[in-house]
Amino acid sequence: MPHRIALIPGDGIGVSVTDAAMAVAHKAAPGLLQTQTFAWSCETYLETGRMMPEDGIDTLRGFDAIFLGAVGWPAKVPDAVSLHGLLLPIRKAFVQYTNIRPHRLLPGVQGPLRKDGFDILCIRENTEGEYSGAGGRVHQGTGDEVAVETAIFTRAGVERILRFGFEQAMGRRKKLASVTKSNAQKYSMVFWDEVTRDLAAEFPQVEVSHYHVDAIAARMVMAPESLDVVVASNLFGDILTDLGAAIQGGLGFAASANIDPTRKGPSMFEPVHGSAPDIAHLGIANPIAAIWSLVMMLEHLGEGPAAARIMAAVEATTAKGIGTVPGQDTTDQITAAILSALEA
Ligand code: NAD
Ligand code: IPM
Ligand code: MN
Repeated sequence: MPHRIALIPGDGIGVSVTDAAMAVAHKAAPGLLQTQTFAWSCETYLETGRMMPEDGIDTLRGFDAIFLGAVGWPAKVPDAVSLHGLLLPIRKAFVQYTNIRPHRLLPGVQGPLRKDGFDILCIRENTEGEYSGAGGRVHQGTGDEVAVETAIFTRAGVERILRFGFEQAMGRRKKLASVTKSNAQKYSMVFWDEVTRDLAAEFPQVEVSHYHVDAIAARMVMAPESLDVVVASNLFGDILTDLGAAIQGGLGFAASANIDPTRKGPSMFEPVHGSAPDIAHLGIANPIAAIWSLVMMLEHLGEGPAAARIMAAVEATTAKGIGTVPGQDTTDQITAAILSALEA
């Protein structure tokens, strides 16, 4: 039985990297994925006033997984409208509370921050924290204006993401870095530290380190080999994973999986990067982040051999120097090289 996949290419380079990933999927495992494309995007918003139809979430519910390119066209639609109309509601509706973002070096990739030994798994809390959407503005537009954005951290939410991180650490190098800013944020982050300590007692084999987010950002660059699993809140995880991408060589390399580990609803797979309006019409978007996200989707669907074949083809391609320098090769050239590596 093929897996039923909802494809949301979205905006900008989201469309071309999704096309690339699907070409690779169909070549590596013909017939394995049965895709249905949803043209939900900022263009849809300009035509209909909605990023997705009212029953969009219900439509997605019937799929085995969702694959998303990128959302956002800030010149035409405010980001707070587009992202809160499509990407963020999907993460919340399907309780995709775990955002798994692996960062490791591919052979041949160049980059100013590249350092041997960089191989971390960022586990980002994905449904609450700083992205809770709680807050408001008063006295708008006046000199007395006040804007409040409340970060909400629940025990259930913090415990489940940290537990997931500890479980991942058990399957890796048994090191977990818990990220906070508990020197400045005295409620939520002190609470996060306490939950980390409670769980550490359940996983005595795991070596736990507590880092402030500013310090771990520097450590990721200066001493990445000292880090393995990194667990962070929604906003801190967001920022650290763009840094992780940069250390890998660029935004075009970082993949992600938005997972509901209980599998009650579909999980969603997407590159870490956005719609890149600055290069959207140049044909030079690197499709590797999207293709690596496809690999994560296939692993999630129990298709390990197909996932491994694709990852090997990506690595064989970068090892030859193709797709390794931003802007040097076109999306089509990189995709073609991966497709031909799949034949080898
Ligand atoms: P971005 O990730 O789109 O781009 C940042 C920089 O990285 C740009 O210079 C871009 O050209 C480069 N880049 C990104 N992906 C690349 C790729 N695959 N190959 C080569 N270069 C690549 O971030 P931004 O500019 O802050 O955001 C643009 C839009 O995307 C905004 O609307 C933003 O809200 C949205 N966004 C969406 C997602 C998502 O849908 N998951 C993620 C991040 C940003
Ligand atoms: C990401 C993106 C999103 C996030 C934005 C577009 C809302 O930056 O997936 O990393 O912050 O989660
Ligand atoms: Mn981000």
